[in-house]
Amino acid sequence: MLRALTLLSLVVLSVAWGGPAAADPLRTHGCVACHTTDGAAGPGPTFRGVWGTDRTVTTDGATHRVTFDRAYLERSLRAPNDDVLEGYPPGLMPAFDLAADQIDALAAALEALAPPAEPPPSGPLWPMWAGAFLFVFGHLLLSSGAVRPALVARLGERPFQGLYALITGAGLVWMLVAWSDAPYVHLWDAHPWTRWLPFLAMPVVMVGLVLGYTTPSPTAAGGEGALDQPPRGVLAITRHPANLSVVAWALVHVPPNGDLAAVIVFGSVALLGILGTWHIERRRLRAHGDAWRAFAAKTSIVPFLAIAQGRARLRLGQLGLGRVVAGLVLWFAFFALHGWLFGASPQP
Ligand code: HEC
Repeated sequence: MLRALTLLSLVVLSVAWGGPAAADPLRTHGCVACHTTDGAAGPGPTFRGVWGTDRTVTTDGATHRVTFDRAYLERSLRAPNDDVLEGYPPGLMPAFDLAADQIDALAAALEALAPPAEPPPSGPLWPMWAGAFLFVFGHLLLSSGAVRPALVARLGERPFQGLYALITGAGLVWMLVAWSDAPYVHLWDAHPWTRWLPFLAMPVVMVGLVLGYTTPSPTAAGGEGALDQPPRGVLAITRHPANLSVVAWALVHVPPNGDLAAVIVFGSVALLGILGTWHIERRRLRAHGDAWRAFAAKTSIVPFLAIAQGRARLRLGQLGLGRVVAGLVLWFAFFALHGWLFGASPQP
């Protein structure tokens, strides 16, 4: 276990080291989370065709014109609120403390985007709604008491699980593919302080995810066998560790993303996590009656509630140091690769 973890950390570190260096600086610094490179709208102005053009900006309340050159780029990075581009609110662009060669690389990337472009036609929004619907309600429908037993009886448990993964996975992939093509619909100004939410929460969320998926639990799919045993490890904190971690992951990502497409993605994941928790509670109660009630009496849904009420005791040894370390390694991997993978910097 320990050797596997060390190996995993080394792989992650080497990818984190080598990957972003070779990639597009606008992506690795997370600029493309707000600035498009193809002329499309976003939270910030597009970078397409702006290098060398005149910009109208407001400085200390006075409006004037300035040329988009390296000096302007450097000022925009160090003190974004000194020159605020007309038509955009101040306070949204985060400050970046970059070295001269990093600014040179950004300037080169911006200059390469010089030819102006017609904004590309963005796709419609309905495929996102359709994917989200399939993802959320596919999960709930297929695992419901009306559908699951009938399908399992006809197909067998294994093929049913395969079908389940296929249908719900298709919903997720559909939604994510549609995301890259979705129009930008502004909902609110995502102020930089909101970035602290995922920054602070994600280490805990990742540890919770690993604890949740690796601790045998009656709330996991097919885990009812664990009802005979006293709740172990993380189950003393909450009996839905995996679901609540997913919900927390989704919710902390909503405030820093003030556009409709992001709200559909993170919102549907949060919705599925909440409805799924409620659904499992009902199904387990119906199927196992008193055995479930006894388990529920020794645990809580709200984290630490059962401990606070003296119904559960946390045994740190049972959590598993290896799991906690694995969660932190996973967190670090995503933190290091976030800009490269998703085009948005995870730094507050
Ligand atoms: C969280 C969103 C966000 C991120 C991330 C971001 N910016 Fe901005 N940026 C904005 C907004 C909003 C404006 C317009 C308001 C202003 O001028 O401050 C802007 C303005 C600018 C301007 C002036 C643009 C113009 O057309 O005149 C430059 C240059 C700029 N950003 C560069 C960058 C670079 C380079 C990065 C990455 C290192 C980056 N920005 C990351 C939101 C962001």
